[in-house]
Amino acid sequence: MSVRRLAEDQFQPAMFAFNEENAVWAEATIRKYPEGRQQSAVIPLLMRAQEQDGWVTRSAIEYVANKLDMPFIRVLEVATFYTQFQLKPVGTRAHIQVCGTTPCMLRGAEDLMEVCRHKIHHDPLELNASGTLSWEEVECQGACVNAPMVIVFKDAYEDLTPERLEEIIDAFEAGKGSEIKPGPQVDRAFSAPEGGPLTLLEEVKPVRTNLEPQRGAEEAAPMPPTDAGRAKNVAPEADASIKTPVTDKEGAKARVKAAQDMPLSATAKTDPDPKSPGSAVEGAPPEPGSVSGDLKPKRSRKKAGPTEGEDK
Ligand code: FES
Repeated sequence: MSVRRLAEDQFQPAMFAFNEENAVWAEATIRKYPEGRQQSAVIPLLMRAQEQDGWVTRSAIEYVANKLDMPFIRVLEVATFYTQFQLKPVGTRAHIQVCGTTPCMLRGAEDLMEVCRHKIHHDPLELNASGTLSWEEVECQGACVNAPMVIVFKDAYEDLTPERLEEIIDAFEAGKGSEIKPGPQVDRAFSAPEGGPLTLLEEVKPVRTNLEPQRGAEEAAPMPPTDAGRAKNVAPEADASIKTPVTDKEGAKARVKAAQDMPLSATAKTDPDPKSPGSAVEGAPPEPGSVSGDLKPKRSRKKAGPTEGEDK
């Protein structure tokens, strides 16, 4: 990891401000973050500042810090931590980042750096004579399968040979970098084999797809809905085998009718204690089917003649 410091004072411009288009973009970008989290826009704003001026100047760091209401040191920490931010002026037409990590190194990255030393400058992060080109070695850029490769601004150029890299550098130097197609520089699509597929050449028809109905599916018994997600009620009163007046209405009706049809004497036999629950107690309402106290034969007082000793 190299030491990353801001460029010397003689390279630093006096001030920085987003141009009109970038200012509108910056406001819209800051609004994407929740209230109180606007500082999360620090990396997009620094990257936009780099795209506008070519590198991240001290005044750009101050500008972003003011815009996001952050201490200068916090923005400086971000700018000096990420190697994507250029802290010194780089080539105005191309800054070539050569991947030097193991897969690219094994596939010829050192030869690509030799081309850069020869065509641009002996040392990395130094401008060529006209100030249009610069280069540096970087860590893996995630295209190892197409090693070796370089990045120019946001585009990757892969499967490189020293000769092809020379052509690319010449095109950028001439202001024609946009004419070079990014991606693999050999005859392949993405990371597919060069020249086309080499394996699985026969067309294999799948035996069955998920879209085709299974044989005999129409005759299959319908599956009941699963109760796997249903909560299990193990309370004793939830036992479905217990009959209640609600679950056994017919039985409940029959029992009520049998009670109503039961003769009074049978009721008395089965309920010898007049004070037992359910028996006719004085003052209690009559049971359905029972004989009302009013209907009981009233004892009539016979008018008897005067007995002996009584006055007539
Ligand atoms: S090692 Fe070079 S892109 Fe991964």
